[in-house]
Amino acid sequence: MSLLEWFDFYESGNPLIDSQHKQLLKMINNYKISCQFNMKEKAIREFIEFLKHYVEYHFQAEEAFQKTSMYPDFRKHQAAHDMICIQLKNLCLKLETKDYSNEFQNEFELFFINSVNKHLYEEDIPFCIFYKNYTEATAV
Ligand SMILES: [Fe+2]
Repeated sequence: MSLLEWFDFYESGNPLIDSQHKQLLKMINNYKISCQFNMKEKAIREFIEFLKHYVEYHFQAEEAFQKTSMYPDFRKHQAAHDMICIQLKNLCLKLETKDYSNEFQNEFELFFINSVNKHLYEEDIPFCIFYKNYTEATAV
């Protein structure tokens, strides 16, 4: 797994949102590095623990800025956040009630690739680009 790089065009210009996205990217890379050192179970547990807090404060902040900027894909984005929360809750429950297994590991990896990574690139970054244009257009 190659590491993710941060590019300036990912920035929304909003320091809170940008720092949170950078934090997520850093945690994704930490997870990938830990996996390379055969510490997958520890990496998964740490990443889930991080996400449990991250989704609470980041999703709320991002949605608030989407509302104030009248982001046209707000509902779609909110639905994606809701889906990530449901999947994460499900994974947490499994981790608490069942033993860590290969099946769980595979399920986490699908979530990691198809939900977390994909959301960052396909939904968060388009919002950041929109938000940057919005703030520039509305600046006095
Ligand atoms: Fe988002």
